[in-house]
Amino acid sequence: MASDLPYLKFAGPVLDETTVAEVGEVLRSGWITSGPWVQGFEKSLSEFCDGRPVKALTSATAAIEVALQLAGIGPGDEVITPAQSFFTVLNMIVKVGARPVFVDCDLVTRNIDLDEVEAAITPRTKAIMPTHWPGSLVDMDALCALAQRRGLRVIEDAALVLGSKWRDRNVGALGDLVTFSFHPNKNITTIEGGALVVNDEVEAKRVDALRFHGIEHRPDRTRDVAFPGGKFNLPDVNARIGVAQLARLPEFLATRRALVERYFERFATDPACVLPPRPRAGDGQSWNMFSVLLPLSRMSITRKAFRDALDARGIGTGVSYEALHLSTLGRRYGYKDGDFPVTERIAAETVTLPLHAGMAIADVDRVCEAVRAIVAGSRR
Ligand SMILES: Cc1ncc(COP(=O)(O)O)c(C=O)c1O
Repeated sequence: MASDLPYLKFAGPVLDETTVAEVGEVLRSGWITSGPWVQGFEKSLSEFCDGRPVKALTSATAAIEVALQLAGIGPGDEVITPAQSFFTVLNMIVKVGARPVFVDCDLVTRNIDLDEVEAAITPRTKAIMPTHWPGSLVDMDALCALAQRRGLRVIEDAALVLGSKWRDRNVGALGDLVTFSFHPNKNITTIEGGALVVNDEVEAKRVDALRFHGIEHRPDRTRDVAFPGGKFNLPDVNARIGVAQLARLPEFLATRRALVERYFERFATDPACVLPPRPRAGDGQSWNMFSVLLPLSRMSITRKAFRDALDARGIGTGVSYEALHLSTLGRRYGYKDGDFPVTERIAAETVTLPLHAGMAIADVDRVCEAVRAIVAGSRR
């Protein structure tokens, strides 16, 4: 059924005209790569993280790679990470030469199972790298206690949860190393961009080198490199957008939350979809995505056909995420079908429905009505 309504993307940024003008000022200023706006953005992010040092980078992928390098992880080391996450976590572990060790997750919260993490620890394990899911964080008390007890580093992939709180403190304000993404689909954007929260100024200085060629400055105003650093510094143009976006984060999060609450009010299909954890008053959770599990075994169409049918009604969807251990790269480490049943079920049944701060409540109603009609029409 074709729709006359505008196409509803499943994710996207909100950029205002003031920000466009502010970017114009940076472009005209004569300094467009990393400079004062990056410093300002890092200061604002640091305040958001209770004063911990924060470094801006060109993506969360870069931040994860640098975090792994900062933690000294390389060949011979193992990193425990969820099989239900984005390709980046697998790619960066492999890129630094370490071995990815996957664990399964919870069907509803999608966060890693910490008992499985504990069971997967070997003498080669150097770090745990969990991905936090919108609507419910990994249990930070249990995670930090486990890491401390077993002497492991933690790299929190917080790409999806900027603005979520753990016991009244923002994600990033506690823990070990924490990475954020500012891709256009995230809670705020810098076009492309990311950040890494570290523990102290020694680590911050090391990140400065890791993100900029490995360069160190000598007292005689010449430079040296002692290791092959990367090139991941965020330009000022992007940082200017980040400063403007961070100021609007509370508003964006409130809009996203209201949309999610509407999804829960309106979402009823027969057979029922598995929904994310329902928001509770004062739970401090942010909502980057609204992903459901389709009742495919009781439907006569495939997920692709379901997504195509929504597309035909002008509604975009995503898949978050494929099972990492079943990717071609993941299988190279000996993983196979059936290793992580919950992850595999999510990977097969999940659909991410539209959610972004540019949407109206009526858009949610439109999505819910379309999903209900397509599921009802394909009931076995
Ligand atoms: C869970 C998760 N982690 C990390 C990333 C990587 O973010 P970036 O695109 O900024 O590298 C993404 C991107 O979508 C993601 O979804």
